[in-house]
Amino acid sequence: MRLGVLTGGGDCPGLNAAIRAVVRKAEVGYDDEVIGFQDGWRGVLEDTFIPLDVTRCRGILPRGGTILGTSRTNPFKVDDGVERVTATVERHGLDAIVAIGGEGTLGAASRLAALGLPIVAIPKTIDNDVGCTDVTIGFTTAVEVATEAIDRLHTTAESHDRVIVCEVMGRHVGWIALNAGLAAGAAVVLLPEEPFDVEAVCQHLTRRHTKGRYASIVVVAEGAKPRPGTLDLPPREVDQYDHERLGGIGQHVADEIEALSGFEARVTMLGHVLRGGTPSGFDRILATRFGIAAVEAAHDRDFGAMVALHGVEIDRVPLADAVLELKSVPRHLFHGVSKLFLD
Ligand code: F6P
Repeated sequence: MRLGVLTGGGDCPGLNAAIRAVVRKAEVGYDDEVIGFQDGWRGVLEDTFIPLDVTRCRGILPRGGTILGTSRTNPFKVDDGVERVTATVERHGLDAIVAIGGEGTLGAASRLAALGLPIVAIPKTIDNDVGCTDVTIGFTTAVEVATEAIDRLHTTAESHDRVIVCEVMGRHVGWIALNAGLAAGAAVVLLPEEPFDVEAVCQHLTRRHTKGRYASIVVVAEGAKPRPGTLDLPPREVDQYDHERLGGIGQHVADEIEALSGFEARVTMLGHVLRGGTPSGFDRILATRFGIAAVEAAHDRDFGAMVALHGVEIDRVPLADAVLELKSVPRHLFHGVSKLFLD
């Protein structure tokens, strides 16, 4: 077979591990040839690529980022996008494209697959919001990095008896905020799924702080939403997938907490720190297993499939189902733990 592979959307730790696994399984397992398209769907549209083999992929397993580059280019938002993708596939005689992406990149992949293009998908995003899989590549690393950072914020918050607002990524969902907040013992977690009232947050912080010197960490997902009429946020730009460019809500929350409660507040924005650097052991293994499974799916001509983790097993699911809706934090999960631990 001849395979193409691409990484699209925001990068995350583990992408190179997935590329390496695709190449190893293809070359060693099946004697296939692989090319890597550069910068996500843009590379397919513009036919920019690099040949990939086992030698080229040596040493990339622990490296963050992606050796192929990435972009948020959407083939459905450019002129003749579908025709150009089809032409590239035909020019290279590709039997399949392995698309490694999050909801935007895989949404486009799903539409292309529905049009008959031979695509198999691997889910990645630190946000963990792709449906039909327990986790996506990059998520557990992001939670580990955020947890360590919040642990560090605790000691300085305690020394100064301050509130520290820690902003983490999470555009539509609060998986990182909730998991890191729980792991590091935050006092408050604000998620996109549960609109918040900053006055109620302040009452909660006041109850804590009047018990004595009792510094608090407030974890806020960048996409958290204030209840209507409670806190004004500025409008934001959008990309080709109509995603807002977020970042900065932490400062607004910290300012409001200081103004309403009188507690000294500081803000730390973790942002892209969560996406950079070396992947956790879990993500390296997940990416490796996903890469192997994607090449197997291509050989089974199971196009339009996405590889997924369910429990300890790697399965295949219809990509169209996986991108149908975002996997958000279930209400019962958030409320169940917040009553007990976010205090
Ligand atoms: O990939 C998902 C994500 O990390 C979101 O959490 C965040 O909103 C977005 O990407 C940031 O994207 P960019 O790096 O393009 O600003």
